[in-house]
Amino acid sequence: MKSFFLLTSLAACALAQRMHIQAPTPGQTVSGNGTVTVELEQDPSLGPMRQTSVLIAIASCYDVCDQPDQWSPGTIVYNGGFDPEWNTSAPEKGHYQDFQVQLPGLQPGPIVFQVAHQYQVGGAELQPVFDYATVLVNVV
Ligand SMILES: *[C@@H]1O[C@H](CO)[C@@H](O)[C@H](O)[C@H]1NC(C)=O
Ligand SMILES: *[C@@H]1O[C@H](CO)[C@@H](O)[C@H](O)[C@H]1NC(C)=O
Repeated sequence: MKSFFLLTSLAACALAQRMHIQAPTPGQTVSGNGTVTVELEQDPSLGPMRQTSVLIAIASCYDVCDQPDQWSPGTIVYNGGFDPEWNTSAPEKGHYQDFQVQLPGLQPGPIVFQVAHQYQVGGAELQPVFDYATVLVNVV
């Protein structure tokens, strides 16, 4: 039983080292030609971690928002470095970075923000890993 608990806690630690989209929030309304703050938070790592990059894309998803395999290719609004930092004025946010992204004049309706994240974690040697998150918002 002890090893079972050890394994589950190791799995929980691995799961906890993800990036999360803190903004926009699910269901938030945005202007189709406005600027949106995308806030990405990185869970603390118990071991060595090195950031590689994030890619932020948006796609209208119409009536297939709950079927990711039906989504159109997204428009890339950011592709570059990720440097999540601790902000002493906002400790509840953990390690995060804000990106201001300009929407390209989207029609009203549901859109999905998709964020792909590459980074490296490990012990003695760093391994490249990937995670991914999405959030659905409404263009009005
Ligand atoms: C932005 O979108 C709104 C709503 O579609 C529209 O009324 C407005 O003219 C647009 N502004 C610009 C600068 O394109
Ligand atoms: C830190 O958080 C405060 C309060 O939310 C904010 O005003 C400030 O811009 C943040 N600083 C950075 C570097 O993001």
